[in-house]
Amino acid sequence: MSVDVVVGIQWGDEGKGRIVDFYARDYDVVARFGGGDNAGHSLVVSGKSIALRLVPSGALQPRTELFIGGGCVVNPWTLIEEFERLTKLGVDLQRMSISDRAHVVLPAHIEADHRREMERGSDALGTTGRGIGPAHADRALRTGTTMRRFCEREEFPEARRLAPHVVDGVAYVHERLERGRRVLAEGAQGTMLDVVYGTYPYVTSSHTLAAGACTGLGIGPKRIGRVIGVAKAYCTRVGAGPFPSELHDRDGDRLRERGREFGTVTGRPRRCGWFDGVAGRYAVQVNGLDGLVLTKLDVLTGFERVGIVTRYRENGDVDVELLEGWQDDVRGVRRIADLPRAARRYVDAIASLLEVPVEIVSVGPEREDLAV
Ligand code: IMP
Ligand code: MG
Repeated sequence: MSVDVVVGIQWGDEGKGRIVDFYARDYDVVARFGGGDNAGHSLVVSGKSIALRLVPSGALQPRTELFIGGGCVVNPWTLIEEFERLTKLGVDLQRMSISDRAHVVLPAHIEADHRREMERGSDALGTTGRGIGPAHADRALRTGTTMRRFCEREEFPEARRLAPHVVDGVAYVHERLERGRRVLAEGAQGTMLDVVYGTYPYVTSSHTLAAGACTGLGIGPKRIGRVIGVAKAYCTRVGAGPFPSELHDRDGDRLRERGREFGTVTGRPRRCGWFDGVAGRYAVQVNGLDGLVLTKLDVLTGFERVGIVTRYRENGDVDVELLEGWQDDVRGVRRIADLPRAARRYVDAIASLLEVPVEIVSVGPEREDLAV
């Protein structure tokens, strides 16, 4: 069997979690391949929002196995807290496994993260403060702590809680693939935050691209099946760094209010802008996308015009193509073909600019608010 991959193609917060939740019903395993508790995926079920940090977004599909791959960094205290919180909600986490190769985020990493941000002063990256960078640095310096070691050492009493979930991560994945199990690899953050191919140095420390699923799960590239990119119908970024399509006007404020664009992990207001077609095309190249999912289209309802950035100019300006907006509520729409004409034109414009078909459009925050 092959492994299908879902990645964000912007700066994170594209709404991957709820899309993975939707796809997960067709998979036996949902596996996180990168990032740590800097990720915050929220799923809205019956008006209630459930936030996931490390637990894969297949958690609400009761039969799906859950896996945290070797490419991830795990804060054990966050994970234990998340276990307790989800267990109270009736989510069974016995079916969750953690790769022995994943690295541990320790309190010293969190301190170092804060310290380095302070030291950078006005050049601060705006990290989530979760110790992600220092944990990855320790891995690269070969001074890090793997999950396996963490569970063997007696100085970490909490490790006893997690030890039953820690497995040989490579054997875990390959046994399942050989038995014909369907595996969905869940990306964290987004393409433009990739440590090599993102807007360095304003990036996270892991490989957020589809290729990260190979190193993050221990599989060869020939194992990868479909690659689905998730994008917001507009664009947001939290933290510092380039954001060519950013809006500093009322349209930006309106996107933030209507889209409730505040970080799930840090509560920070997100920077908002039009859909960035240049970054989108780049993401298609570096991920090799087969399909696209557009989220939060409903947030654009009511705008007189909606923009798509089509070109970056050398002086820092951008070319924006303005399309006619739509006023009709899209929330009840369940088929892309049934969207208001202007909304459909907008979706089609993105698909043709990126040269990738749009498979799903999310039209509201609830689990079922999807048009296919
Ligand atoms: P770090 O991953 O905490 O080191 O943060 C590095 C950059 O990535 C900062 O700009 C963060 O805001 C951003 N970032 C990290 N995780 C996420 C995420 O899940 N969503 C959006 N931005 C993120
Ligand atoms: Mg998020």
